[in-house]
Amino acid sequence: MSTNTIELNRSRFRFDDVESVWLFGYGSLIYKVDFPFLEQRAARIHGWTRRFWQGSHDHRGTPESPGRVVTLVKQAHASCRGIAYRISPEVFSHLDVREKNGYLRFATPMVFDDGSSEEGLVYIATDDNEAYLGPADEAVIARQIAGASGPSGRNDEYLLKLADALRELGDDDPHVFEIEQHLT
Ligand code: SIN
Repeated sequence: MSTNTIELNRSRFRFDDVESVWLFGYGSLIYKVDFPFLEQRAARIHGWTRRFWQGSHDHRGTPESPGRVVTLVKQAHASCRGIAYRISPEVFSHLDVREKNGYLRFATPMVFDDGSSEEGLVYIATDDNEAYLGPADEAVIARQIAGASGPSGRNDEYLLKLADALRELGDDDPHVFEIEQHLT
Protein backbone atom coordinates (compact mmCIF):
# COMPACT_ATOMS: atom_id res chain seq x y z
CA MET A 1 0.00 0.00 0.00
CA SER A 2 1.29 3.44 -0.91
CA THR A 3 2.08 5.80 1.93
CA ASN A 4 -0.27 8.50 0.66
CA THR A 5 -3.61 7.44 2.12
CA ILE A 6 -5.60 10.62 1.43
CA GLU A 7 -7.69 9.23 -1.45
CA LEU A 8 -8.10 5.82 0.18
CA ASN A 9 -9.46 7.42 3.35
CA ARG A 10 -11.86 9.65 1.43
CA SER A 11 -13.44 6.58 -0.18
CA ARG A 12 -13.65 4.45 2.98
CA PHE A 13 -16.64 6.01 4.76
CA ARG A 14 -19.62 8.02 3.66
CA PHE A 15 -20.96 10.53 6.11
CA ASP A 16 -24.24 11.40 4.37
CA ASP A 17 -26.67 12.87 6.88
CA VAL A 18 -24.23 12.31 9.75
CA GLU A 19 -23.88 15.34 11.99
CA SER A 20 -20.90 14.21 14.03
CA VAL A 21 -18.44 11.32 14.29
CA TRP A 22 -16.33 10.14 17.23
CA LEU A 23 -12.61 10.00 16.51
CA PHE A 24 -10.20 8.23 18.86
CA GLY A 25 -6.73 9.82 19.12
CA TYR A 26 -3.81 7.98 20.76
CA GLY A 27 -0.70 9.79 19.44
CA SER A 28 -0.18 13.36 18.34
CA LEU A 29 -3.95 13.72 18.12
CA ILE A 30 -3.91 13.75 21.94
CA TYR A 31 -1.64 16.78 22.34
CA LYS A 32 -1.74 18.63 19.02
CA VAL A 33 -5.37 19.54 18.59
CA ASP A 34 -5.29 21.69 15.46
CA PHE A 35 -8.88 20.90 14.49
CA PRO A 36 -12.29 21.95 15.78
CA PHE A 37 -14.28 19.49 17.91
CA LEU A 38 -17.71 19.46 19.50
CA GLU A 39 -16.81 17.41 22.54
CA GLN A 40 -13.73 15.75 24.01
CA ARG A 41 -13.56 12.79 26.43
CA ALA A 42 -10.87 10.46 27.77
CA ALA A 43 -11.48 6.99 26.35
CA ARG A 44 -9.97 3.58 25.76
CA ILE A 45 -10.07 1.08 22.93
CA HIS A 46 -9.66 -2.62 23.63
CA GLY A 47 -7.50 -5.18 21.84
CA TRP A 48 -4.87 -2.67 20.73
CA THR A 49 -1.56 -1.43 22.03
CA ARG A 50 0.41 1.73 21.08
CA ARG A 51 3.81 1.22 19.40
CA PHE A 52 6.44 3.49 17.81
CA TRP A 53 6.50 1.24 14.76
CA GLN A 54 5.41 3.62 12.00
CA GLY A 55 8.00 5.54 10.01
CA SER A 56 7.57 9.27 9.49
CA HIS A 57 9.03 10.65 6.26
CA ASP A 58 6.88 13.73 6.03
CA HIS A 59 6.29 15.08 9.57
CA ARG A 60 8.95 14.05 12.07
CA GLY A 61 11.61 12.81 9.69
CA THR A 62 12.64 12.83 6.05
CA PRO A 63 12.79 10.12 3.35
CA GLU A 64 16.57 9.88 3.96
CA SER A 65 16.25 9.81 7.73
CA PRO A 66 12.74 8.74 8.76
CA GLY A 67 11.51 9.32 12.28
CA ARG A 68 9.24 7.03 14.26
CA VAL A 69 5.66 7.77 15.29
CA VAL A 70 2.98 5.68 16.93
CA THR A 71 0.50 3.28 15.45
CA LEU A 72 -1.71 0.65 17.03
CA VAL A 73 -0.89 -3.04 17.00
CA LYS A 74 -3.43 -5.78 17.78
CA GLN A 75 -2.87 -7.45 21.14
CA ALA A 76 -5.38 -9.64 22.95
CA HIS A 77 -6.35 -8.32 26.43
CA ALA A 78 -4.49 -5.03 25.85
CA SER A 79 -6.15 -1.65 25.74
CA CYS A 80 -5.01 1.78 24.64
CA ARG A 81 -5.97 4.98 26.42
CA GLY A 82 -6.42 8.21 24.52
CA ILE A 83 -8.81 11.05 23.80
CA ALA A 84 -12.07 10.74 21.89
CA TYR A 85 -13.23 13.79 19.98
CA ARG A 86 -16.71 14.25 18.57
CA ILE A 87 -16.11 16.07 15.32
CA SER A 88 -18.06 17.23 12.34
CA PRO A 89 -17.35 14.97 9.30
CA GLU A 90 -15.87 17.93 7.35
CA VAL A 91 -12.92 17.90 9.75
CA PHE A 92 -11.67 14.70 8.08
CA SER A 93 -10.57 16.69 5.03
CA HIS A 94 -7.92 18.30 7.26
CA LEU A 95 -7.16 15.16 9.29
CA ASP A 96 -6.75 12.91 6.23
CA VAL A 97 -3.98 15.23 4.99
CA ARG A 98 -2.36 15.40 8.41
CA GLU A 99 -2.43 11.60 8.81
CA LYS A 100 -1.63 10.81 5.18
CA ASN A 101 1.64 8.96 5.69
CA GLY A 102 0.24 5.42 5.86
CA TYR A 103 -2.69 5.85 8.26
CA LEU A 104 -6.11 4.46 7.35
CA ARG A 105 -9.33 5.15 9.17
CA PHE A 106 -10.84 2.08 10.86
CA ALA A 107 -14.14 1.75 12.71
CA THR A 108 -13.81 0.97 16.41
CA PRO A 109 -15.85 0.98 19.59
CA MET A 110 -14.42 3.29 22.27
CA VAL A 111 -15.20 3.12 25.98
CA PHE A 112 -15.39 6.25 28.15
CA ASP A 113 -14.39 6.46 31.81
CA ASP A 114 -18.02 6.18 32.96
CA GLY A 115 -18.33 2.81 31.18
CA SER A 116 -20.48 4.06 28.32
CA SER A 117 -19.29 3.52 24.77
CA GLU A 118 -19.64 4.81 21.23
CA GLU A 119 -18.65 3.61 17.78
CA GLY A 120 -16.17 5.83 15.98
CA LEU A 121 -13.04 5.95 13.87
CA VAL A 122 -9.33 5.70 14.55
CA TYR A 123 -6.31 6.22 12.27
CA ILE A 124 -4.08 3.14 12.18
CA ALA A 125 -0.93 2.54 10.13
CA THR A 126 -0.98 -1.17 9.35
CA ASP A 127 2.08 -3.28 8.53
CA ASP A 128 1.34 -3.26 4.78
CA ASN A 129 2.05 0.45 4.29
CA GLU A 130 5.37 1.46 2.74
CA ALA A 131 6.40 3.65 5.66
CA TYR A 132 5.91 0.90 8.26
CA LEU A 133 9.11 0.13 10.18
CA GLY A 134 7.92 -2.49 12.65
CA PRO A 135 9.34 -3.63 15.98
CA ALA A 136 12.73 -2.66 17.38
CA ASP A 137 14.27 -2.52 20.80
CA GLU A 138 13.19 0.55 22.82
CA ALA A 139 16.81 1.77 23.01
CA VAL A 140 17.17 1.49 19.22
CA ILE A 141 13.88 3.34 18.72
CA ALA A 142 15.10 6.09 21.06
CA ARG A 143 18.32 6.50 19.07
CA GLN A 144 16.39 6.77 15.81
CA ILE A 145 14.00 9.32 17.34
CA ALA A 146 16.90 11.35 18.77
CA GLY A 147 18.42 11.74 15.30
CA ALA A 148 15.26 12.56 13.32
CA SER A 149 13.57 15.81 12.47
CA GLY A 150 11.11 16.87 9.76
CA PRO A 151 8.76 19.62 8.58
CA SER A 152 6.57 19.26 11.71
CA GLY A 153 9.54 19.47 14.07
CA ARG A 154 11.89 17.23 15.96
CA ASN A 155 10.96 13.61 16.49
CA ASP A 156 11.97 13.73 20.17
CA GLU A 157 9.45 16.54 20.72
CA TYR A 158 6.69 14.21 19.42
CA LEU A 159 7.76 11.53 21.90
CA LEU A 160 8.18 13.86 24.88
CA LYS A 161 4.86 15.64 24.32
CA LEU A 162 3.09 12.30 23.98
CA ALA A 163 4.68 10.97 27.18
CA ASP A 164 3.62 14.14 29.09
CA ALA A 165 0.08 13.91 27.71
CA LEU A 166 -0.17 10.24 28.74
CA ARG A 167 0.97 11.07 32.28
CA GLU A 168 -1.72 13.74 32.41
CA LEU A 169 -4.26 11.15 31.26
CA GLY A 170 -3.09 8.83 34.03
CA ASP A 171 -1.94 6.25 31.53
CA ASP A 172 0.87 3.81 32.18
CA ASP A 173 2.43 2.97 28.83
CA PRO A 174 5.69 1.09 29.49
CA HIS A 175 6.72 1.16 25.80
CA VAL A 176 6.47 4.96 25.53
CA PHE A 177 7.99 5.63 28.95
CA GLU A 178 10.92 3.30 28.34
CA ILE A 179 11.77 5.07 25.07
CA GLU A 180 11.48 8.39 26.92
CA GLN A 181 13.95 7.15 29.55
CA HIS A 182 16.49 6.20 26.90
CA LEU A 183 16.16 9.67 25.40
CA THR A 184 16.60 11.73 28.55
C1 SIN B 1 -3.28 9.51 16.54
O1 SIN B 1 -2.74 10.38 17.21
O2 SIN B 1 -4.40 9.06 16.86
C2 SIN B 1 -2.68 8.96 15.28
C3 SIN B 1 -1.20 8.99 15.23
C4 SIN B 1 -0.58 10.35 15.26
O3 SIN B 1 -1.05 11.27 14.56
O4 SIN B 1 0.40 10.55 15.98
